[in-house]
Amino acid sequence: MDRPFFLMTDPACFDVSYRINPWMKPEAWGAADAAAASAASRSLRTALEAAGAHVETVGAVRGLPDLVFPANAAVVLDGKVLLARFRHPERQGEEPVFRAAFQKLKARGVVDELIDLPEGLFHEGAGDAIWDAERRLFWCGYGPRSSKGAVAVVKRAFGQETVALELATERFYHLDTCFCPLAGGKVLYYPPAFTPAALAAIHARVAEHDRIEASDAEAAAFCVNAVNLGAQIVMARAPQSLRGKLTARDYRLAEVDLDPFILSGGGAYCMTLRLDRTTRDAALRYAAE
Ligand code: ARG
Repeated sequence: MDRPFFLMTDPACFDVSYRINPWMKPEAWGAADAAAASAASRSLRTALEAAGAHVETVGAVRGLPDLVFPANAAVVLDGKVLLARFRHPERQGEEPVFRAAFQKLKARGVVDELIDLPEGLFHEGAGDAIWDAERRLFWCGYGPRSSKGAVAVVKRAFGQETVALELATERFYHLDTCFCPLAGGKVLYYPPAFTPAALAAIHARVAEHDRIEASDAEAAAFCVNAVNLGAQIVMARAPQSLRGKLTARDYRLAEVDLDPFILSGGGAYCMTLRLDRTTRDAALRYAAE
């Protein structure tokens, strides 16, 4: 694969009809939001393609509104796919749908191997296991959704270092809502989302000059939930304050209006799942320079 390869999901059956995180307000959801969602999803796809990515779409399934968040379907690295198990019954129906999608991708040679999580553990995919290509490790969130015990499974499945980060609040229930490693080694993160031990683990591995702290407003705008491709960062519409912080560090922002998905507690990163990453990524990029 020569281009970044992302999965997205057709938003035709997306809505906010239940509440499994504090951002979701079923009573506020309406027909206008559904129409806006399909435009928003198209804009995100266009922004990823403009950044050089290839995007494929999983079909919508009635009754599974959160299927639009494929980041939660699996952890993917080096062609291995560790399939998710969702904490909430509302999302468990997505598991066979994503499994079937990955089986098809395997038949095409896009991925090589599907791995099941041991019984009794929850893990919500790349939302709670974020590959840091610069440091060559997985940052793993746990608490509200993923089980602490699943961190060791990620480590074993991929044979890579993991750093377990306990999430302190239901508002930032997946690691990808509050933590985003960037090309070049910087990390955009929202400190209040972490327990003191998790913050210490981040600070032990990310030097102070590489830390970019998101404010309450920036985190609540789901801007930490971003897709990074080299110098380009694709995210929900950003407060001016965040634009300044990122452009000062030579990142380029592509902002997309993702308001309908924010009503479900999700942004750009969770609407996608990257399939082509390998442990050689960073080394290859430096070799090419
Ligand atoms: N409504 C979805 C849920 O609560 C949103 C998931 C967003 N995904 C993410 N990786 N943050 O599960």
